Amino acid sequence: MDLTATRAAFEEQGLRRADVDGDPLVQFERWFAQAQQVGVHQPEAVALATADVRGRPSVRHVLLKGVEDGAFLFFTNYGSRKATELDANPWAAMVFPWHEVSRQVRVCGSAHRLEPAASDAYFATRPRGSQLGAWASTQSHPLVARAELEARVAAQTERWEGRAVQRPEHWGGFALVPVELEFWQGRPDRLHDRFRYTRVDGGWDLERLSP
Ligand SMILES: Cc1cc2nc3c(=O)[nH]c(=O)nc-3n(C[C@H](O)[C@H](O)[C@H](O)COP(=O)(O)O)c2cc1C
Repeated sequence: MDLTATRAAFEEQGLRRADVDGDPLVQFERWFAQAQQVGVHQPEAVALATADVRGRPSVRHVLLKGVEDGAFLFFTNYGSRKATELDANPWAAMVFPWHEVSRQVRVCGSAHRLEPAASDAYFATRPRGSQLGAWASTQSHPLVARAELEARVAAQTERWEGRAVQRPEHWGGFALVPVELEFWQGRPDRLHDRFRYTRVDGGWDLERLSP
């Protein structure tokens, strides 16, 4: 599909109030499916911002692995910087940067660890190499050399030879439960369309924002 033409069409069409669903999760699924259909590169890649207890932010990409029960799921090492920050301060923000179609989606909420059984279930679906890597990597901690990592992978490969790799306790999922989402559609002359949902009393407020 010609992404340049798609982007121009989306910019021309804009995002009309009448076309925005009252439920932001429905709206997200709609835009995510469109991003996949038109060929946006890795639409599930999302920037995830966390902050430490002193309020200092950090940001990195993760892969969205699903939206379940209204929460955005991703998986990581529980000893990593992001997980350490989330355990101490669950407030987090995400942005999906779908530049190829002049769209972005922002999500803000609190993130908590998934139940172990849910992490087990997802871990079991991962390629074996990724499973072994999860055991071998002490994510976000210093390595003396790449050879150290490779030795750790070799040791884990030997350890699990001939049997299924179990999920390490230091690896699992987080669910970000949103309280605010914003859908941004780029338009000509920087007169973009923006709609923000805010959680209120079990429902959602929806407002158009200035570009
Ligand atoms: C496109 C992309 C997807 C990524 N997906 C993940 C992921 O799903 N989980 C993860 O732990 N790291 C993922 N990473 C690596 C992270 O960006 C980051 O380097 C790592 O998680 C350590 O971050 P931290 O030290 O802030 O915890 C991804 C990186 C990129 C570029």
